[in-house]
Amino acid sequence: MLGGRPPTVNDLPKSTYTAQVIKESLRLYPPVWRLARQAKEATDILGYAIEKNAYVFLTIHVIHRDPNRYHHADALDPERFAPGCPKPGRFAYLPFSRRKRQCIGDRFAEMEMILVIATLAQTYEVSLSPGQTSVTQPSVTLRPRDGMSMKIHRRSLDHPDEPAIETIEGARREPLAQTCPMHRHIGQAEE
Ligand code: HEM
Repeated sequence: MLGGRPPTVNDLPKSTYTAQVIKESLRLYPPVWRLARQAKEATDILGYAIEKNAYVFLTIHVIHRDPNRYHHADALDPERFAPGCPKPGRFAYLPFSRRKRQCIGDRFAEMEMILVIATLAQTYEVSLSPGQTSVTQPSVTLRPRDGMSMKIHRRSLDHPDEPAIETIEGARREPLAQTCPMHRHIGQAEE
């Protein structure tokens, strides 16, 4: 579609499939996988008593994988977001939250992701390095537990079998407790 030139904002309306892939990726792997709220006063939700000051967590990751909301919920299927397909319910798709505290950067983030992917994907093809796991780790944001070691191939019509030009070693993280006092606190709370 781009013929090798960098994408511009004018290409966005035509980037429907890239947008679908991004939407589906945010469904399966929402970076903000859980929202937290603190009760200002005692209340109840669907019969569950909530004490004043108690924290209530809304787990977006679970909602996005709910088979009652999504057919083959664990499968990557960008066609779910194809034009003309029924949209998920209003509160079934929440990568940017909703209503009062909805992300103010949602449109910007979507635009940026389309432009970055369109820029890179027309020149490079990436694949996981052999043996690389893709285990998710729910920290403050959802992240790959073992980093992401990838192979990068230059796309070439003349040399489609050209070997990988570079292997990017995903950062192997130190255990979170050794890197950030905030993580230590959260890690203890979650264990
Ligand atoms: C893929 C990228 C992003 C994701 C998944 C994301 C997700 C979210 C989510 C889920 C919330 C709601 C948090 C809550 O309700 O507790 C939020 C809030 C927010 N986001 Fe984002 N965000 C992204 C990018 C951005 C960018 C690029 C900006 C700024 C340019 C931004 C600025 C904000 C701000 C200021 C809030 C707080 C809004 C408020 O509380 O009124 N975000 N984001």
